[in-house]
Amino acid sequence: MDKEDAQTQFGTTSSGIEKLKKAGRITAEVREYGKNLIVKDALMVEVLDKIEEKIIELGGKPAFPAQISCNHIAAHYCPDEEDKIVFSDQLVCLDVGVHVDGFIGDTAVTVDLSGKYNDLIKAAEEALDNAIKIIKPGTTLGEIGKVIQETIQGYNFAPVKNLSGHGLGQYEVHTKPSIPNFDNHDETKIEKGMVFAVEPFASTGAGIVQDSGTATVFELTNKKPVRNMITRQVLKEIESYDNLPFTTRWLTRKLGAKAKFALREMRQLGMLHEHPPLADKDKGMISQAEHSILIDDDGNVVVLTQ
Ligand code: CO
Repeated sequence: MDKEDAQTQFGTTSSGIEKLKKAGRITAEVREYGKNLIVKDALMVEVLDKIEEKIIELGGKPAFPAQISCNHIAAHYCPDEEDKIVFSDQLVCLDVGVHVDGFIGDTAVTVDLSGKYNDLIKAAEEALDNAIKIIKPGTTLGEIGKVIQETIQGYNFAPVKNLSGHGLGQYEVHTKPSIPNFDNHDETKIEKGMVFAVEPFASTGAGIVQDSGTATVFELTNKKPVRNMITRQVLKEIESYDNLPFTTRWLTRKLGAKAKFALREMRQLGMLHEHPPLADKDKGMISQAEHSILIDDDGNVVVLTQ
């Protein structure tokens, strides 16, 4: 990985900022492209493949596997290559991440194929808009959470409290600060030079998510020597993702079904951090909206993924 444009903790060099803006533009374009592909009877895997091809075509790379979390799943759902699941009448959260030399854009939108959840989508979108309206140097994280919480509760839904927005570092999808979706009274202030994603989730249920089902999204967190030939090949492929999250489908596409055996071995060796799907505790339906934001050196709020 190339760190010549390395960020200071919350600042970026000017060439880094150009790359960040480019990543943001690509992420936004791919989100709109992907949104239009989510229609009844479309094969989920094909939609994700097309989204990821589009990212490459526009000059970026996936910062994490594109995800299409449906109904009570809030995040981290990514079908395997052989899963022949099609869209029907789900509520679909599409989350897309793109990087340009490690500078990341992260954005999400919710598509309602059921026609029943218009207000739930509006709640998350309005919460995001209202949060952006108050964001400036000096705004506290707790104030942002409060606006998100009040907007979503104004629709009689629950904000998802144990998911949050996050700082975006070079080759790091989740860094400090954590941007709450409720008033947690965090007095940390927004500062010039910060880059972060704000991502409210609205739920008709508990507003608390928990692990649900088997992970297909992973990160290499603890590299160890491996002897098995196939596992070595898979490890080499994973290393080409620059320590960013990846999905099983990427590996089986490139290296065949044997990649799953290698993944199993690496899990047993404790090399991987797993990101299983996250579902509402009470099976509430979930919507999401997300933008990436840069506070530039003059204190301007730049929404990178609009
Ligand atoms: Co995010």
